[in-house]
Formats: sequence, structure tokens, C-alpha cells
Amino acid sequence: MSTLLTGIGELTTWDPERPHLTDAALIVDDGTVAWTGRARDAPAADDAVDLGGRAVVPGFVDSHSHLVFAGDRAQEFAARMAGESYAAGGIRTTVAATRAATDEQLRATTARLVEEMRRQGTTTVEIKSGYGLTVEDEARSLRIAREHTSETTYLGAHVVPDGTTPEEYVDLVTGPMLEAAAPHARWIDVFCEDGAFDADQARRILVAGAEHGLRGRLHANQLTYGAGVRLACELGLRAVDHCTYLAPEDVAALRDSGTVATLLPGVEFSTRHPFPDARALLDAGVRVALASDCNPGSSYTSSIPLCIALAVREMGLTPTEALRAATETGAAALDRDDVGALRPGMRADLAVLDAPSHLHLAYRPGVPLVAQTWVGGVRPS
Ligand code: NIG
Ligand code: FE
Repeated sequence: MSTLLTGIGELTTWDPERPHLTDAALIVDDGTVAWTGRARDAPAADDAVDLGGRAVVPGFVDSHSHLVFAGDRAQEFAARMAGESYAAGGIRTTVAATRAATDEQLRATTARLVEEMRRQGTTTVEIKSGYGLTVEDEARSLRIAREHTSETTYLGAHVVPDGTTPEEYVDLVTGPMLEAAAPHARWIDVFCEDGAFDADQARRILVAGAEHGLRGRLHANQLTYGAGVRLACELGLRAVDHCTYLAPEDVAALRDSGTVATLLPGVEFSTRHPFPDARALLDAGVRVALASDCNPGSSYTSSIPLCIALAVREMGLTPTEALRAATETGAAALDRDDVGALRPGMRADLAVLDAPSHLHLAYRPGVPLVAQTWVGGVRPS
């Protein structure tokens, strides 16, 4: 069964020859993109939908989120906006609430946030554990995340929980907790930062994960300068996330390794840290992705359009570069070549915008422009 989407005012394909087409059409067949081109050249299909001149962009690939949790930290946010600073320790508040929650409560919150993302155009999402920090609670978080995505990440090494020493905890994270988590995860992550885990601990955890078939990614250089970004590059990780405080040698390491620098502007917004200079990174030849980092502490937004607007206004990206960072490079951050663009053969994951072009995502900040989100070629009901 094929469907022709026609009347597309502007279609972003990321085809190197023609990244944006006007007066375009797209044919979906069996969940994938079968054809793109000018509407007047479109071949016949079983069914047709006229999008009335709206723009179509690839569905957003949100490569960094923490959606399995309970409670919120609105008071902590308000205190920050009144002058307090963000500290990694706030994570423990959410750990306590998450441990106390039932499976049904965690499932409901995760499903609500995935749906919230979907309504805003996100079609691929990575979800981390990291608010359980016991063997059972980490495995439970990953099982719930897996109900929504294959891109699940074991983040037992989020912080050291109360009642244990860092040494004991790293033994647990690399031992029984890893055994319980690995069947439900594709990736392993560590919060490498003052107040969480240092680079030696992170290396040990990532190596142990690799021995269990988990691929590494890292939270690094969020709150201070440090060795995390260089460790990620040395280990050849697919992505290193935050990258708020980068020294020249970090930028050189990112350029040379090809590790994707995933920037999370919702965090700078919500913690009042300075926005990283994405312009300088792109100019240096670094691959830059954008993600929401949706979590109740440092960035409680599920909105990639907001991240795009912030990256344009505060990080020096053009609207087109920001969209690419949230789609094609987000897919690269997850080592996915089937999503993030709309070339023939790729998954028909797309967002239809109530706007004539993709530029409006940044030009009209805060406006709910996503009219429809199609996942795997399925028209939203
Ligand atoms: O990516 N940085 C570490 N982890 C999350 C924050 C978690 C929290 O504050 O609850 C992040 O920003
Ligand atoms: Fe995070």
C-alpha cells in the first residue's frame, strides 16, 4: 500500500544534491520513503494526501533523554532562577521518588512524555535509566524505556547513591547491575563530572559495558572543564553529550575522532550556564547534534523545536544547521542511518509543519508548528 503526500510547500530531504525541494511530493511505501521529487513529476500511488503547502521535515531524532522517573523538581528550578546554582546532587531527590513509585506510575510518566515529544515532531528517542541506582530499579527503568524505543541506555553511573562508597558503587555498576541491565540496553553512559564520576571511573565502567556488548556514550564537561570529552574521543565513542565547557584541546579531539558533540540547550536554559559555541564547533569541523535531555532536574523540556530555536539564537547556528543537528546528526549520534533524513529507503518518519518552510521552527519560537507527526509511514489519527 503506497501513499502519495503531495502539496508539500517545502520538503527537507537532506539529499546532498537537493536538501530542500519546493512544491514537492513524497511517496511512502511499506513504512519507508519510496520516492521524493517535484509534485508535478510524482508517480501514481494507491492513496494521496494533500498537505496544502505545509513544510515537511524529517522527524526529530532526540538522542538524549531521561524519561523514566517520578516526581518533579519545580522548586529546585525556581530556586535556581532566584540565584541558586545547579548541582549533580539534586539527582538523588528524583532517585528517592523513582524508587518509591510503582511500575504503573513510571510507565504512565514515560508514556506521557514520549507522547508529548511525538506531538512536537520527535520520531526517534533515546531513553536512559539512572534514577533507580539499584540492580532492580535500573533494570525496571530500562524495561519500561524499552516499551518505547530500541535506543535504551544504561546509566547506573549517574551519581553515587546515599549509603555506599564510590568504590563499592562502581563495583556494583560494573558487576551485578550491569548483568541485569545489559539485556535491556543498547548503550552505556556515565555522568563524568565533579560530584558524579571521574574519568578513571568512567573508563572502567565503559570498558565493562563494552565487554557486555553495550556501546558507550558519555555526559561530560557540563558543569566544568574536565577530561570527559577527551576520554570519549580517545575511546572512539559515538557521542559525547553536554560539551558546555570545552578547552581548545577538547575541540581538536572531537574534530579528530569524529565523535558527535551533542549539545543540550535546554540545560543551559534551565541551569543558567553559558550556552556552548556551536558555531565554533561546526567551523572547526566537529559534528554537532542537538537533543532535549528531557529530565526533571536540568532540562524539563520535551521540545526539540525549542532546542532548535535556542541553538539558533544562543549558540550561533543557522536555522538549517540547527534542524540538521536535530535530525541527521542526531541519528549519527545513535549510529542510525535509517532515520534523520527523507531519502528513498529510509523510514518515513516526518513532521508536517503549519508553516511554509523549515526556517519557521526557529523564526517562530514557542509556537506549536508541528501539525502532524508520521512514524514509519503511519498517518496520525
Ligand atoms: O543530563 N547531567 C546529568 N544528568 C542529567 C541531569 C539529571 C538531573 O538533574 O536530574 C543531565 O543534565
Ligand atoms: Fe542527561
